[in-house]
Amino acid sequence: MNQIYLDNAATTKVHPQVVEAMLPYFTECFGNASSIYATGREARKAMEEARRQVAAALNCAPAEVFFTSSGTESDNWAIKGAAYANIKKGRHLISTTIEHHAVLHTLEALEKQGFTVTLLKVDEYGRVNPEDVRKAIREDTTLITIMAANNEIGTLQPIKEIGEIARERKVLFHTDAVQAVGTMPVDVKDWNVDLLSLSAHKFHGPKGVGALYIKKGVRIESLLQGGAQERLRRAGTENIPGIVGLGTAIELAYKNLTEKTGKIEALRNDLMKGILDTIPETRLNGHPQQRLPNNLNISVRYIEGEALLLRLDLAGVAASSGSACTSGSLDPSHVLLAIGLDHETAHGSLRLTLSEDSTQEEIDQVKAVLPGIVKTLRAMSPLYE
Ligand SMILES: Cc1ncc(COP(=O)(O)O)c(C=O)c1O
Repeated sequence: MNQIYLDNAATTKVHPQVVEAMLPYFTECFGNASSIYATGREARKAMEEARRQVAAALNCAPAEVFFTSSGTESDNWAIKGAAYANIKKGRHLISTTIEHHAVLHTLEALEKQGFTVTLLKVDEYGRVNPEDVRKAIREDTTLITIMAANNEIGTLQPIKEIGEIARERKVLFHTDAVQAVGTMPVDVKDWNVDLLSLSAHKFHGPKGVGALYIKKGVRIESLLQGGAQERLRRAGTENIPGIVGLGTAIELAYKNLTEKTGKIEALRNDLMKGILDTIPETRLNGHPQQRLPNNLNISVRYIEGEALLLRLDLAGVAASSGSACTSGSLDPSHVLLAIGLDHETAHGSLRLTLSEDSTQEEIDQVKAVLPGIVKTLRAMSPLYE
């Protein structure tokens, strides 16, 4: 299919080298990593190599990496696991209003179990003020969970500063780095994080496999009880092909990262300028500089994001919006509302997320078709004069 794929924040195409690395683990090396005979040992060896690859990317020890089924599971495990393990100290957690639902809904579930959650507000660019984090810490605070990069508007948080505050106040710090890992440098030591979530399908790895970094010495409860896998901390027969895919993908993602990022950012900036300069009543959402290099989020006033997506799809462009059906709800994005957009402007938002596969021809094509689509939709809009 000749599609221009600009929805890489939703998921990415699996890298051919990743597919190649995974294939033998479905066939000849299909063994269970817990088995002692040859094919089991091979599976275990491959898994430990993937653990080493993840650790190298995050700057941690392989023993601090635990494989999971997704970014969602990693978030649930980090948050519920830390909350329950520290219940004697307290039941207060700190987060932000713009987290992914894997975090927000987990916190809501904990609130129903008697925990208290403080959700910090963000500024007009989607940034949290570290001083607000400091002020929100109480005697009974056990966890701060703040995302590294936002999945909708791409805004980066001052993770290092927040990490320093958490460390100083002896509160555990988790970051959902699902959008950051593979797209920007990540260093758990420099960031001062205790727990970090990542997901393979966001960086050209397979879907349904993720990891949680758990700093040495940090105790969190397990979510899954059963076998002795992942050193008794996460039961369930390991998804070896997926884990091998994750390891290969993370290593590839960090190979020539600066070079790849430079190219992606230049294309993104070209697309941004093309849209903002040629289509009236458009605005950039998120921070102009402190944002993921591949993310562009724009509000196009007087039109419905969904209608825009359908027209773009007809023109062969896959994108995403911050409203309605894609999220299965009629409410506009909680992130766009949190940065101060009114409902109408939030409904007319468009997220375009690039990858290393994006080309100048594709960007030129989007710049060529978008103004016409917007014009047509606005001509039909009762809101547009
Ligand atoms: C910031 C963030 N956190 C968590 C997730 C969930 O990851 P997964 O799709 O692997 O469950 C996503 C996926 O969109 C995300 O963008």
